Amino acid sequence: MADTNIALLPRPTFTDEKFSSDVLEFFSGVKAGHLGQWEYSEPKFSNDVVRGGELWRKFLREHINDYYILPNEIRLIQETAFSVAECIGKSSVTVIELGPGSKESVYFKTIPMLKGFLNPQTYVAIDLVGSYLKDAKRIVSGLFDGCNTLGIQKDFFNESFCLPHYDTPVMIMFGGTLCNLSGFPNDGFSIKETIKILRNIRSLIGDGGYFVITQDTNQDPISIERAYQGQGEFALNLMHRVLRDANVEGDFDPKAFEFKPRWFSKSYSLVHSYTVKRDMRFRINETPVELKENQVLYFNNSYKYPSELFKRVAAIAGFQSVRMFFDKDKRIALHVLKAA
Ligand SMILES: C[S@@+](CC[C@H](N)C(=O)[O-])C[C@H]1O[C@@H](n2cnc3c(N)ncnc32)[C@H](O)[C@@H]1O
Repeated sequence: MADTNIALLPRPTFTDEKFSSDVLEFFSGVKAGHLGQWEYSEPKFSNDVVRGGELWRKFLREHINDYYILPNEIRLIQETAFSVAECIGKSSVTVIELGPGSKESVYFKTIPMLKGFLNPQTYVAIDLVGSYLKDAKRIVSGLFDGCNTLGIQKDFFNESFCLPHYDTPVMIMFGGTLCNLSGFPNDGFSIKETIKILRNIRSLIGDGGYFVITQDTNQDPISIERAYQGQGEFALNLMHRVLRDANVEGDFDPKAFEFKPRWFSKSYSLVHSYTVKRDMRFRINETPVELKENQVLYFNNSYKYPSELFKRVAAIAGFQSVRMFFDKDKRIALHVLKAA
């Protein structure tokens, strides 16, 4: 079985229209760097190889020494939670989390931040992945007596939706989610896209609300590329999801890709790339796609803006910087922003 092209075997498919059109734009070169959100997948049947969420956790377990972003961010959140709550200065808040992610992330980041607020009134989790929402709600309601919890399964970057009115909304976003934005690596800093998304978040929060966000500001190519080196299995799993969910027909082999992280200093971006290992011709949504051996494709970005630049961009989107904290290595910044 090792060399069988599994694309040619009968298989269950679960076509997702939005995913299919994102994938088609990716392979046809119309867009780049916009597939990161689809990496956190879940299996849909027994023996399903599509399991990005699980492989992400495996990556973290096995590469935590190189992936400084996670331990440094966790420490920073845990050390500053009370100071963050203090500078917001309200006794009763609603915490709205954009992309809570896995249980581990909820235990290590969300819960310590909620503890800083002592008595959060309501916790709202928004994520594309249903099981993440379920876990986040269960964990929070188990630990905070009387805290209402709500899960919203929406795309907070691209869908417009309204939240109920809350007195002091504090939106939190951890794990670099805002930095996974579309863009070609040589196009420079994705300022327009960042402003657009921050404006979207600003309008969800409403006047007087707060936004607490962490970002990696490291600019050292060696430690950055090393941090992402071990993500191969996780990154390549997305190609199996293409086969399962992207309405693909023909000679598409999910194993014919190689993952490589590449740092583009002018764009402040660690770009997640695939190198195509052999020629392939297939169709997505009935549109022909042709890939050539050694072609390089850019499927995700992890933008790492200098903190002052991030503050300037946030100001354009209507946020005033209340305070900024740094981790011990001065790489991860935690911003407390107010919707001014
Ligand atoms: C980079 S992970 C961060 C997870 C976690 N907060 C952490 O710190 O590890 C991004 C999370 O946001 C979710 N996500 C990414 N893009 C999204 C979008 N556009 N709309 C809703 N959820 C999204 C993913 O499913 C995932 O749970």
